[in-house]
Amino acid sequence: MTVVVLLAAGRGVRMRSERPKVLHEAAGRPLLDRALDGALAVAGSAAQVVVVVSKGGDAVAEHVKAAYPGVRVVPQGPPRGTGDAVRAAAHAFGKAMHVVVLSGDVPLLSPETVKGLLEALKADKKAAAAVLTAKLADPTGYGRIVRDRAKRFVKIVEEKDSSSKEKKISEINTGTYAFDRTFLDRSLPLLTSRNSQSEFYLTDVLSLARKAGRRVVLVEGDPLSAVGVNSRADLAHVDSILRRRCADAAMAAGATLLRPETVTLDETVVLEPDTVLEPFVTLLGKTRVGSGSVIGQGTVVKDTVFGKNVTVRPYCVIESAVVGDGAIVGPFARLREGTDLAEGVHVGNFVETKKAVLKKGVKANHLTYLGDTEIGERTNVGAGVITCNYDGFLKHKTTIGRDVFVGSDSQLVAPVTIGDGAIIAAGTTVTEDVPNDALALAREPQKNLPEGGAKYRAKKRQQR
Ligand code: UD1
Ligand code: MG
Repeated sequence: MTVVVLLAAGRGVRMRSERPKVLHEAAGRPLLDRALDGALAVAGSAAQVVVVVSKGGDAVAEHVKAAYPGVRVVPQGPPRGTGDAVRAAAHAFGKAMHVVVLSGDVPLLSPETVKGLLEALKADKKAAAAVLTAKLADPTGYGRIVRDRAKRFVKIVEEKDSSSKEKKISEINTGTYAFDRTFLDRSLPLLTSRNSQSEFYLTDVLSLARKAGRRVVLVEGDPLSAVGVNSRADLAHVDSILRRRCADAAMAAGATLLRPETVTLDETVVLEPDTVLEPFVTLLGKTRVGSGSVIGQGTVVKDTVFGKNVTVRPYCVIESAVVGDGAIVGPFARLREGTDLAEGVHVGNFVETKKAVLKKGVKANHLTYLGDTEIGERTNVGAGVITCNYDGFLKHKTTIGRDVFVGSDSQLVAPVTIGDGAIIAAGTTVTEDVPNDALALAREPQKNLPEGGAKYRAKKRQQR
């Protein structure tokens, strides 16, 4: 049996953040979730995964308990180094023969790589540990693998403790290990904090192995499995790699991305075949785009489901909405939470919707606010119509029937109901319910003063 320990208690000082490092997100998911998925794939069951978190109401523990039930959470006292962190988890090793240690801040590591490392340990009966290494063009910041002349493992030296000669070593420690459990149990109490950071280094266990005449297997992984997130710049680097993978996967699955390097996709986004994403589109969260749909340039979408053959014209902002088949949205539309557009609805430029259910064929093409409203089939909402849903204290609902014509620049003061087939004259302020097929008109009658315009101009000219 193998237990997988995931280290997630470090301070993440270099992030300069109130938020724990491993809860920072790349491609829309916390770094920790990515590492936990890997840990679960290697361990086989949640009960064999142990996450080491900081003591004292840390958000990391809460997050793990909510998102990964069954995974064990172990608090570490003050963070005194990776060796101390594994020591904190030791009581949870159970009957494990092997202990895999992963870092919560190494998000590009694949479970296959970790499984390979574990196999390499198991294959060598004399080995006390296996370490995943990588050769990096720029090894700055990582612990270096020091070998002797015969290329055998000697030790891992941290950047901060290294000599200038050691700094030139390009082979680094990725922070991923597989240990013989008995050896690890015996070695952890022997660690000291005599180093430049006054920390208990897990890497010193490997020096102890060598001194005890046990072998340390070094397995070289690809450079990406080494990428650790220690700073905001590292986070941006990982984010761009992951998002590029999302874009490549979307294209492989049949989506057209017109300028893939400008498109931002969360990993959780699903694109059906034959969707088109124009340049600078951002799709986040649980967004799903049906086949044949086109998302226009510069549009930002979160948690929204689009049906088939939807056209979103450029520069729309859409969140928590449902957009039906064949609907046309934008340009410059804002669909907010609770917007539900049925098949064939048109929502045009500078239209804002919130908790708005627009039935089949409704058109609201220009400069309109539709909030807390339900609008029946085929109704046309003219330019500048406003549902006055808020009285300064409470929100109220506007119900509009089907085949209604709401003239331009009308205000519908909620709560109010407009019956099927009604017509609202342009410029009307509707304060009372309108029956089916009625014509509602509420505005000052127009006066035309004969020659009034000409007289006015003459007067103004005289005053100049
Ligand atoms: C560590 C390795 C280094 C390696 C690098 C790879 C040591 C001494 N050094 O350095 O050789 O090249 O990872 O990324 O192990 N953590 C705890 N409790 C602590 C300290 C850290 O849980 O007290 C956790 C952190 O949250 C993080 C992981 O352990 O997930 C690694 O810690 P970090 O401080 O980032 O170590 P590095 O300096 O990157
Ligand atoms: Mg690190």
